[in-house]
Amino acid sequence: MTKNKNIVIAIDGPAGSGKSSVAREVAKRMGLQYIDSGALYRAITLYVLEKSGESFTPEDVCRYLNTIHLEQVFNADGSCTTICNGIDVSEKIRSETIASHIGKISDIVEVRHFVNARMREWARDHSIIVDGRDIGTVVFPDAIIKIYLDASVDERAKRRALEYSLKGKDVDRDELKTQIRLRDEQDMKREFGALKKSDDAIYLDTSNITQNEVVQSIYSLINTKIQYC
Ligand code: CDP
Repeated sequence: MTKNKNIVIAIDGPAGSGKSSVAREVAKRMGLQYIDSGALYRAITLYVLEKSGESFTPEDVCRYLNTIHLEQVFNADGSCTTICNGIDVSEKIRSETIASHIGKISDIVEVRHFVNARMREWARDHSIIVDGRDIGTVVFPDAIIKIYLDASVDERAKRRALEYSLKGKDVDRDELKTQIRLRDEQDMKREFGALKKSDDAIYLDTSNITQNEVVQSIYSLINTKIQYC
């Protein structure tokens, strides 16, 4: 991307802040590889649930890590395919069951090391834009640009409700707000890899701006930065 080396763009923020849509769009425009770190945690969660059911222990999870191989493919249409041991799990990992168990799995430090190592491997070969919770703080502290995307709980619940309704599901907005607050608390309080704005990250509140405006701001920031590299 720059003359001599690959670059990393880190996008962190809470659930529903628009990270993945924005990161995918910027990746498409700039020819970057998009990495969805949440999907990697989701894929591990699916694997564990399929092996052990809901009664897994942290020891089971650590043992399974030796038998999991993860790949991600960023497609020309902007979608991201997550592959676990050769199987495309992109659809399956989006279930409510995965969402309700992922916290227990992504809290395990060995799981975090496993996912982080895989993403760092990819960063050696490509210029990447990665979204997650701890990308700018833990995984890629030297990322060339760090963005922290945020939005009010009301706005995030509205976006999630819209996503569900597009899938034909009707959900209670207050229930969604409760889930979002709970997930924020869990993500912010975890011992390893907590959701946190890095001191050198640019904070963008997306509550009252369109996705296009967010994409354009990030695009301009990257271009300005790259000129000086
Ligand atoms: O799309 P949404 O933000 O709801 O979820 P996601 O990005 O797919 O991430 C799902 C869950 O994975 C989060 O709530 C976190 O608990 C966990 N996660 C994490 O621990 N670290 C990351 N870098 C990304 C996700």
